[in-house]
Amino acid sequence: MAEAKLIDGKAFAIGLRQRVGAGVTELVAKGGPKPGLATVLVGADPASQVYVRSKGKTAVECGMASFDHQLGADASEQELLSLIAKLNADPTVNGILVQLPLPKHIDTAKVLLAIDPAKDVDGFHPVNVGRLGSIAAGAPLDFPVPCTPLGCSMLLQDALKNLSGANAVIVGRSNLVGRPVAQLLLRMDCTVTITHSRTRNLPALCRQADILVVAIGKTEFVRGDWVKPGAAVIDVGINRIPTAEGKSRLVGDVAFEEAKKVAGHITPVPGGVGPMTVACLMYNTLQSARRVAGLPFVAV
Ligand code: GUN
Repeated sequence: MAEAKLIDGKAFAIGLRQRVGAGVTELVAKGGPKPGLATVLVGADPASQVYVRSKGKTAVECGMASFDHQLGADASEQELLSLIAKLNADPTVNGILVQLPLPKHIDTAKVLLAIDPAKDVDGFHPVNVGRLGSIAAGAPLDFPVPCTPLGCSMLLQDALKNLSGANAVIVGRSNLVGRPVAQLLLRMDCTVTITHSRTRNLPALCRQADILVVAIGKTEFVRGDWVKPGAAVIDVGINRIPTAEGKSRLVGDVAFEEAKKVAGHITPVPGGVGPMTVACLMYNTLQSARRVAGLPFVAV
């Protein structure tokens, strides 16, 4: 059998960012607001710093305003809540992104609840989680949807065109990825199974999947013989492992070299799902700004 087709998330993300940029130009030309994205980083975790910087930079590249806020690792929960209240009230801010994870002394649920759901471009506020959890098949996503799951669904739609009736197995039940991916695929008429650390016979379940989405954060956990021939494999994992030369490299949650011999489509790591997260954040921020201007939702 031929090797799997690579799903080029990097190229798709570049295209999406360009379409969002064109959407920003159109919105401003119509007299709408220049979309503004506020990022909030608490502490100095190096990986989070890289992500937040990339989000702010991409916003500017898309023609948006970027407002970067940094609080010290010892900032109080109240300080963070006060900043969020200020951003909620600021009309130049259409999207608020609080980078996760937060330091242990801060209650993440309380912080996410404090963000205005209309500006919740991560889609983590319970109101937006509830909207996604109760969406009808095929209904428009006219509210913020978590970025990484949205990116996964866009890549699958682009690669497969029609997902109706496909058997989708999701490995991982996190609020960030597994659960929202399940809701999006259900909306696209897949038959969805969510699996997790207590699931029995996981390899056998995976082998039934036409679509296999893996998001558990374990290096090369899913092996090639877990993959159904011809399946579409979406690897959400980003694991940094040391190399023999004393450097490090990124690998996914799927044993890529094995799986690509069996799958029909597969995302590489890096260059698969990763670049979609930031592009979808831009997409959500544009949609939030359009809603403020009273303009209808557009799929770009
Ligand atoms: N940390 C890891 N992924 C994400 C994400 O999508 N959004 C936020 N806010 N923090 C994250």
